[in-house]
Amino acid sequence: MRTKRVYRTWIYTVVISMFEAWTQDAAINHLITIFSASVNRDVAFNLGTNINLTCTNKTRADIVFIIWEIHLKNKNCKISFVNDNSGIDSCKDGKSIQKTSTGQLYLHVPNLSADDVGLYKCESVYNGGNENYNIKVAVTVPPVLSAWLEWKGNKIVALCRAERGTPVANISWSYGGSSEPAVKTQLDPDGFVTVESHLELLEDVCPEELTCIVQHRFWDQEKILVPELREENSTLLWMRVTLVIILTLAGVFLLALKTCRCSPHNTSQPKIPALDLDNNQNGRKTDDANH
Ligand SMILES: *[C@@H]1O[C@H](CO)[C@@H](O)[C@H](O)[C@H]1NC(C)=O
Repeated sequence: MRTKRVYRTWIYTVVISMFEAWTQDAAINHLITIFSASVNRDVAFNLGTNINLTCTNKTRADIVFIIWEIHLKNKNCKISFVNDNSGIDSCKDGKSIQKTSTGQLYLHVPNLSADDVGLYKCESVYNGGNENYNIKVAVTVPPVLSAWLEWKGNKIVALCRAERGTPVANISWSYGGSSEPAVKTQLDPDGFVTVESHLELLEDVCPEELTCIVQHRFWDQEKILVPELREENSTLLWMRVTLVIILTLAGVFLLALKTCRCSPHNTSQPKIPALDLDNNQNGRKTDDANH
């Protein structure tokens, strides 16, 4: 009985002193973070912007440490701030923990690129508590737009293309075709998406009135494109026309050259030889007559 009681007291003492240490030493609060729920957030920023991620509004004086655990497509790394200034940075790509004028700490990511897309887990421990965030960072990249018309058999097909954007662009047409537009979506391994919409035009429709409308998160307003017969096609047409002209001219030139080569051997009046005799005779006659 006695040993049991002593044992129990001993456990109480340990638990109490642990609890005291726990409340006194905020670093041990770290243990609680395992049990505390984290807040999930999804954010997207435009390509090339400088972004700041915050995971606590506590000021530097209160903070024991902050760890950003960053999971990117090509690498995982950590950036931390510890109150005694012995923070680590295994990312070494320009990301850093910075401080606002009011003393709040945030993660600064300069010139956001597709490589910075990923999950940013932040754990901050301060005197009296902790906060955990899982922030999914996406990048918004505008697609490159083009629209054109193509002959397909005896029908005209309008095409509208939004190339290598992210997230995916939405393409629509100012009016319908002979069927629903066919949409092709291609996802590149680096996360960019290309969308192409094909619209087969009705025969009685005037393609000049057709427009393609593209919506994308990067732009406040939708973009409107007028598809025209592709320049490549007209270039090809011009090349053909030029080739025909060149060949014709070459033919005419060769013919002319041949005619010129033949002419010195015959007389300058090739059709006259039959009359030459008469002419000569006449000439002689006149010569004779003169002499
Ligand atoms: C941002 O990054 C892109 C490519 O990653 C680079 O071409 C550009 O010069 C950078 N801009 C700044 C302001 O550093």
